[in-house]
Amino acid sequence: MIRVGVIGYGYWGPNIVRNFAALPDVRVAWVADLYATRLAEVSSRYPSITVGTDYQDVINDASVDAVVIATPVRTHFELGMAALRAGKHVWMEKPLAATSDEAARLLSEAERRGLALMVDHTFVFTPAVQKMRELTRGGELGDIQYYDSVRINLGLFQHDVNVMWDLAVHDLSIMDCVLDRPPVAVSATGLAHVAGSPENIAYLTMFFEGTLIAHVHVNWLAPVKIRRTLLGGTRRMLVYDDLEASDKVKVYDRGISVNASPDSLALMRIGYRTGDMWSPQLPLHEALHVAARHFVDVITSTVKPMCDGHAGLRIVKLLEAATQSMASQGRPVAIGVNAVV
Ligand SMILES: NC(=O)c1ccc[n+]([C@@H]2O[C@H](COP(=O)([O-])OP(=O)(O)OC[C@H]3O[C@@H](n4cnc5c(N)ncnc54)[C@H](O)[C@@H]3O)[C@@H](O)[C@H]2O)c1
Repeated sequence: MIRVGVIGYGYWGPNIVRNFAALPDVRVAWVADLYATRLAEVSSRYPSITVGTDYQDVINDASVDAVVIATPVRTHFELGMAALRAGKHVWMEKPLAATSDEAARLLSEAERRGLALMVDHTFVFTPAVQKMRELTRGGELGDIQYYDSVRINLGLFQHDVNVMWDLAVHDLSIMDCVLDRPPVAVSATGLAHVAGSPENIAYLTMFFEGTLIAHVHVNWLAPVKIRRTLLGGTRRMLVYDDLEASDKVKVYDRGISVNASPDSLALMRIGYRTGDMWSPQLPLHEALHVAARHFVDVITSTVKPMCDGHAGLRIVKLLEAATQSMASQGRPVAIGVNAVV
């Protein structure tokens, strides 16, 4: 039996507790939150869970094996480091930390102590994204030419991070999982429409080696919710719409063929292929359930974590570069080779 302590029971924490509590070999032993009202809710739903306002009580409990941190990003480093130093395996909510320096220190502390450090890049655990990875890595789509995503809604304005660190992090982690190479540079633009608040709208363009480009549009100030990603390949293209109840992924046998004339570029012909569309059957697993199961398997066996501290650090480095680019109105910022650990 793995005993888990959860720190943070705001918006996301209840999903965490529900999913860990559903695992037969897990006991959620603790929930800590700063607010008594949040803790009262825990007690009414899960009377057997011990609650408290001081997170130190969770990490000082010798019977706790793993700590889940579901608090605002600015607190991730302090809480994560305290948990690792107390010898606990750590599940960190996305993004891993507020800076790459903090993320790297968490990673090295976990590695030095031989502890699991997993980041909740939730979408990586969805059947849809796993299918996209399979189709891409298996060559079904051909050479990938672009990743193009829109992730917008009338969203909760965060106080400590801008919209890239809240929403684009999902796309960056999906790209990290699906594509076979990391971006080499990023250009980002965005704006805050509320004085004193972080940017609520952002456009990120990522450049890769070769003929691959990615664009991500995120916005907390949109009248409709859209979660749609296009992945264009030389053989096939796909559309992933996370809001579709079924048929979330549709694969299109569509594209072009270029017949270049040996004599003149002007005679180049573009041929169009408009073949069938099919939608792969996807299991109906909740991503967080799969992720929680995976984390426990990582702790109790030799399974390698899918979203480990290295992945967490790569995403934070990319977000940092995007933030730097945004401050100079989109000047491309190189993502050092060291970004890919
Ligand atoms: N994986 C996902 O899809 C997903 C979705 C939403 C949020 N998140 C992540 O979850 C984290 C929390 O986001 P949220 O929207 O739930 O935030 P929130 O503000 O709604 O909740 C955070 C909670 O943490 C508590 N808290 C803060 N500092 C604490 C401390 N020192 N000790 C104990 N409790 C403390 C607060 O009281 C609050 O109730 C963020 O990292 C966010 O990015 C992930």
